[in-house]
Amino acid sequence: MGNKAGLTELQRQRRQLLLAGGAALSATLLPNAGQAMSGVAAEFPYGFLWGAATAGHQVEGGNINSDSWLLENMEPTLFDEPSGDACDHYYLFDQDIAMLSDLGLNTFRFSIEWSRVEPEAGQFSRAQIDHYRRVLESCQRHGVHAMVTFNHFTTPRWFAGLGGWEHPESSRLFARYCGWVMRHLGEWMSYATTLNEPNLMQLLFGIPGLEQSKLGTIKDQEIIRKAGERVGTGRFSSWVFGDMEPIRQGLLAAHQAAYEAIKTVRPNLPVGVSLAMEDDQAVGPGAEAMLERKRRLAYEPWFDMARRHADFLGVQAYSRARIGKYGRLPPEPGMPLTDMGYEFYPEALEGVIRYTHAHLKLPLYVTENGVATTDDSRRVTYIHRAVAGVARCLLSGIDVRGYVHWSLLDNFEWLEGYRPRFGLVAVDRQTFQRHIKPSATYLGEIARQNRLVPLPRSV
Ligand code: BGC
Repeated sequence: MGNKAGLTELQRQRRQLLLAGGAALSATLLPNAGQAMSGVAAEFPYGFLWGAATAGHQVEGGNINSDSWLLENMEPTLFDEPSGDACDHYYLFDQDIAMLSDLGLNTFRFSIEWSRVEPEAGQFSRAQIDHYRRVLESCQRHGVHAMVTFNHFTTPRWFAGLGGWEHPESSRLFARYCGWVMRHLGEWMSYATTLNEPNLMQLLFGIPGLEQSKLGTIKDQEIIRKAGERVGTGRFSSWVFGDMEPIRQGLLAAHQAAYEAIKTVRPNLPVGVSLAMEDDQAVGPGAEAMLERKRRLAYEPWFDMARRHADFLGVQAYSRARIGKYGRLPPEPGMPLTDMGYEFYPEALEGVIRYTHAHLKLPLYVTENGVATTDDSRRVTYIHRAVAGVARCLLSGIDVRGYVHWSLLDNFEWLEGYRPRFGLVAVDRQTFQRHIKPSATYLGEIARQNRLVPLPRSV
């Protein structure tokens, strides 16, 4: 990676940043600098990825063979509404990718739906592979890197009916699907991640005292029992519906097997895994032990795995977790919240990148970061402050190579249905027409200039 001057790529990038900003840069990038842009902006490294993310089930629509579809359309259900047609992205992908490219972004993160590609165990669909080939071709035609997720939470019904990630054969089955996809589509991909947020269960309800939201109900036995009846096997385990420890083991094994299957077909394809992360902050005496427990459970096993079986780590951060001696603390009084109910805290991304880098010497990509809000000017501010944090990390010499925003579109936010708006682009729920929001234009401008541009006056 060295260049003529003998600098490593990272050193070169860092120097570029320093030259671009000089002394004024640090002033520009102070946390919460908000409006205080001095006009001197940080230039990002050449080749930095600027993108937006989606996930198949959240945008495609009609994903009827997936476990989630079943859970959404059952009685009782924990979902506020079913995914239905989602954003009709299955048919509108080409215009969506063209729009992303026209905005100035150079990376599209999306997932391939396992339940479409392998609707019954061992039965692979050529027609669906052809569909995803067209998606990948569209990325290429529009000059956009394709960052492909092989599994973004949803699995085929038959897989959930076998016992999902708890089944002893789950890693082999997942790797078989990944290998098949790779043999047909591998040459078109720029980056791949195996699993999206395989540590989510640990974050959601791994540690007594640190649980989040609707969790008491998620392991609801009646739902699991009824889903098992519906799939006809009497068993059902999927996503966060099942037993945590066997799922955790299954996902670790699945990542490793998938990594190997993907690299066997294309050894030079950068392959990683994306983790759900929070900026953990210990508050008050005795809190450190609780914080360390969380990290040991939620992140460290995956760092260990990534050290051996990953070319990069995808970090995904939305907010911070204030952790006291006995567990999670609410945001400080008066702190602004997002429409998900957690704190509006864009600096979380910087905290997460710094923590990860301190423990794992791998290139990092921000594969998700964003905010649920119906007031798009808050998204603009969020992006500005989060990207400023990434720039500060680069200045410290941390190897961050991309910022991919969640999400390109207002989409299906799982249990919460279509209420939370994470999109850079709004979607009319009747006509599926897309409406570009100012935040999309702002992020696109950052991408075009490859630097943190000042906030628009209107914000
Ligand atoms: C998930 C997305 C989700 C987003 C916003 C991430 O944890 O990967 O699927 O929509 O957060 O909640």
